[in-house]
Amino acid sequence: MASKTKAEPTASGSPPANQATPHDLNCLTIAELEALANERMDKQTRDYYNEGADAGTTLSENISAYSKYRIRPRVLRDISQIDTTVDVFGHKNSSPFGVAPTAMQKLAHSDGELATARACKSKGIVMGLSSFSTSTLEDVAEASEANPNVLQLYLFEDRAHSTKLIDRAKKAGYKAVLLTVDTPMLGRRNLEIRNQFKLPAHLSIANFVDQGEDEGEDDNDGASGSTASTQTTTTNASSSSSSLSTDNTDSPNNGTTTTTADKPLRSTPRQNPHKRRANTSSKRNSNPNPKPKTKTKTKTKPKQSVAGYHDGHKRHPPTGPITFHTHAANPTLSWEESIPWLKSRAGPEMPVWVKGVATAEDATLAVHHGVDGIVVSNHGGRQLNGALATLDALPEVVAAVNREVPVHVDGGIRHGSDVFKALALGADFCWVGRPVLWGLAYKGRDGVELCLRLLMDEFRLCMGLAGVTSVKEISKEYLCRVDRDGFVSKL
Ligand SMILES: Cc1cc2nc3c(=O)[nH]c(=O)nc-3n(C[C@H](O)[C@H](O)[C@H](O)COP(=O)(O)O)c2cc1C
Repeated sequence: MASKTKAEPTASGSPPANQATPHDLNCLTIAELEALANERMDKQTRDYYNEGADAGTTLSENISAYSKYRIRPRVLRDISQIDTTVDVFGHKNSSPFGVAPTAMQKLAHSDGELATARACKSKGIVMGLSSFSTSTLEDVAEASEANPNVLQLYLFEDRAHSTKLIDRAKKAGYKAVLLTVDTPMLGRRNLEIRNQFKLPAHLSIANFVDQGEDEGEDDNDGASGSTASTQTTTTNASSSSSSLSTDNTDSPNNGTTTTTADKPLRSTPRQNPHKRRANTSSKRNSNPNPKPKTKTKTKTKPKQSVAGYHDGHKRHPPTGPITFHTHAANPTLSWEESIPWLKSRAGPEMPVWVKGVATAEDATLAVHHGVDGIVVSNHGGRQLNGALATLDALPEVVAAVNREVPVHVDGGIRHGSDVFKALALGADFCWVGRPVLWGLAYKGRDGVELCLRLLMDEFRLCMGLAGVTSVKEISKEYLCRVDRDGFVSKL
């Protein structure tokens, strides 16, 4: 994508008014962005991005929870200078929100996570990268230049795979690890099941193209990172909570049967980029008169991905190429074992955060186990349907943590005033998931910039009209609650 000269954010978090980018008249709100994106995405992608678990109650309550609060604006306060910036992960962020980690962004646009990274850089917004991204963490770091990224981590049962990923993130300069803790099993997403969701053959789960498979032949095309690349749809469905089975983590093959072919999806072999680099350098150093290479088949092709399961006596970890549906969920994680392990592995360079805490009890445990920060999240309503909306869970977490570590929140943020409300309820920072994907689907990098810009502008306007000039002033004094009958009460 051609780079454009754009107004960089100022120290106070917004471009000078005379350099402001013109409006996109087709898209002035996140709701319009969603509609425009929905027209552009294919059904599988649209459903995968937009749906929540089961009936989607938690997904919709994440959004509607914001309308239970109203802002109490103050006036005559000289708001001629507004500073929207906040410090997060040792960086000055233009506005108190970041881009939440969401998997497989190349489904939305061919530039995927790289477009998101470039948009975040131009807007001065931190980016969370999913472990299951369709671009490597190194390429995303390069696209971000000096703008900070954090790595979302699914901690695998086979720690060797996680260790490699953490070490790579450290080397690439990631500022923190967000350990996702709300996925001991995968939530049941019915549209994913119905669509028999799989990553298209030309895409791969880029961080793991070399990992988790039996060593393949030299010309192995690296398709193993792909969600469905080397597994049957049966495995795909049965190992996810998208499965029709009741306990996907306890059985390797307990789900649906399908007629989908039991073979890699990619029709034309594509070389794994890591191996391509390795091949190039070995060519440079190669013997000028090499013996003709006889292709001896010493090792086998990648095996099927199989989810972990318990056979009644012992647990069998996932095997085969790393895929989202077989490897992301890890029912064996625990406060006592997983957090110390991760802290010793990621630290001191990368602080360890937990993403997916939704109760005071777990917030207390998180602090007790020495995490560096908490993200109140329910995975955008994609895990436990019926779980509390994140805005409703936030106050108890904030109270339990008692400012010992920072508390962030995500889920349902669709307007800058939602960020204001979350901060007023005690969050230090917010994360935004689906709206960014909609921006990506609408116009790649420009669409993500548009999404960020809408939220940033709305937040700034909200601050000014509420009579606040710096983020740290935002407190519950600025909110009141509306009850079911429409009566308001101060907090
Ligand atoms: C399509 C999609 C993929 C996601 N992938 C991940 C992921 O790989 N890891 C993770 O921790 N959370 C993931 N999330 C959850 C987000 O990080 C975030 O918690 C959620 O999107 C916030 O809700 P919102 O979409 O309403 O803003 C994903 C969410 C969506 C919508």
